[in-house]
Amino acid sequence: MTPLYDFRGVHVRLGPAGQVHALRGIDLRVQPGERVALVGSNGSGKSTLLRTLMGLLPVGGVLHRAPGVRAALVFQRPYLMRSSALHNVAIALWLQGQRWAQARVLALQALERVGLAAYAGRNGRTLSGGQQQRLALARAWAQHPNVWLLDEPTASLDPQARLEVEALIRTFAAPGASPAQEGGGTLIFSSHQLGQVRRLASRVVYLEAGRILADLPVDDFFDPDVLARHSPQARAFVLGETP
Ligand SMILES: Nc1ncnc2c1ncn2[C@@H]1O[C@H](COP(=O)(O)OP(=O)(O)OP(=O)(O)O)[C@@H](O)[C@H]1O
Ligand SMILES: [Mg+2]
Repeated sequence: MTPLYDFRGVHVRLGPAGQVHALRGIDLRVQPGERVALVGSNGSGKSTLLRTLMGLLPVGGVLHRAPGVRAALVFQRPYLMRSSALHNVAIALWLQGQRWAQARVLALQALERVGLAAYAGRNGRTLSGGQQQRLALARAWAQHPNVWLLDEPTASLDPQARLEVEALIRTFAAPGASPAQEGGGTLIFSSHQLGQVRRLASRVVYLEAGRILADLPVDDFFDPDVLARHSPQARAFVLGETP
């Protein structure tokens, strides 16, 4: 199968003079239908890797993206405009060339999809943290992506809202969830919640200081002996994160 993404020795430097070497020699292949979790400490490079997958950053190294990729990135802190929830979604569609009337219809469908239809007229910035995260997901869903790039999608949510958003994410990434998803949706997300990683991921990539130190099927990642054999640092990270 042709990978959706094939990164070899990818480097990213950030900051005005490129002084922050945020990704250092990333090798990563992602196949259609995978559910990849990115884990690692603050500053390890998860958000940078997601932005690189989205094609938002200049990079060094070899980076192939399959032609069929239609990716949507939901940021760690979603940017919402100071206008209605409906507008926040409709404008994204309009910018992509939809006519305004049609964009509004599709936007309402997307809000219904995430359970926010009742808030369509509310200023997006006055929604609660969890509602804003749903709104950002609705905006992404409206683009019918076949690759979902989600940066800490439930970071500010209470346990109940977290499970609800996880259920949404699971249905979004399921095969046939949108017309554009012939081979099944692909999910790449970052998370500090290892329980969530277990629930959502099929594969776990552990980053430290811009490098991938472990890249394992989820069951292997959570097997202490297997993980310790692959990467003592990743094992130490998991021990530190587990209450
Ligand atoms: N615009 C920027 N300019 C300079 N340095 C940056 C910029 N964005 C990120 N960095 C740096 O790049 C490194 C990787 O940051 P990144 O945001 O990818 O980490 P992260 O793993 O997502 O962390 P967190 O868990 O806190 O979200 C950090 O050292 C960070 O300070
Ligand atoms: Mg981040």
